[in-house]
Amino acid sequence: MTKLLEGKRGIIFGALNDKSIAWKVAEKAAEQGAKFTLTNAPIALRMGEINALAEKTGSAVITADATDMNDLKALFEKSQEELGGKLDFVLHSIGMSPNVRKGKHYTGLDHNFYAKTLDVSAASFHKVLQTAYEMDAINEWGSVLGLTYIAAQRVFPDYNDMADAKALLESIARSFGYHYGVKRKVRVNTISQSPTPTTAGTGVKGFDSFINYADSMSPLGNADASACADYCISMFSDLTRFVTMQNLFHDGGFSFTGVSEKVMEKF
Ligand code: NAI
Repeated sequence: MTKLLEGKRGIIFGALNDKSIAWKVAEKAAEQGAKFTLTNAPIALRMGEINALAEKTGSAVITADATDMNDLKALFEKSQEELGGKLDFVLHSIGMSPNVRKGKHYTGLDHNFYAKTLDVSAASFHKVLQTAYEMDAINEWGSVLGLTYIAAQRVFPDYNDMADAKALLESIARSFGYHYGVKRKVRVNTISQSPTPTTAGTGVKGFDSFINYADSMSPLGNADASACADYCISMFSDLTRFVTMQNLFHDGGFSFTGVSEKVMEKF
């Protein structure tokens, strides 16, 4: 059988350790025949775990802070050089809130931190897209994905300022998706994933109750990181060529469930 991503080239942001959603995407993309570079912020690369993934998938690791336009430009240049041509897919799997880290309440944010949350978790998506757009670094029908969470639409109090970042991220996917579609037939979407036990995920206050609640509310149960990676692969493949500017729920049905019997039983 032909592999879904045979002959495709890409960049994968955000593989920190083997729990990361991006890590699973990299493993599956390699299995499906893709060639890609791996990238993360300098501090994340210092831990060195990514080298095992690079070896396993035959990928080069290129340092880039996703908020730095110069780093991004160098990343796109080096990636095209390394892979031998324009790209077909990009995964943005990046999130970080200093307010969450420092336990600041949503009603009492540190506004320097807030700016950082929005820059790292949302504006970086625009920066990645703008860099690719200006360099014309992505082939026609290429696919760019960001990862998001339903707190962009509904209140989950402890998700804090990341909710605002996700709302912005999803809006950028729509707006840039329009312009990139018109110019180059490049697709831009976000996948809204179930709570997942990763480094970023477990940083949210009350994560254990949160993930159990979501599981009880979802007819299919929570989607795990590996299933999320499968969905990403399908979105990078040619089987989804006319899907763009969407926020796609990958959550076992959570987003459209009002209440479940499992949750009702608790009252
Ligand atoms: P993770 O902690 O493994 O990945 C987050 C990544 O962001 C790390 O690799 C980190 O080094 C990177 N990062 C932070 N600042 C950066 C910067 N300035 N430049 C480049 N990279 C930077 O956690 P996870 O869960 O795999 O997160 C991936 C994405 O999935 C994030 O956008 C997250 O918000 C989203 N997501 C996660 C959910 C969860 O419950 N874990 C649920 C829904 C969405």
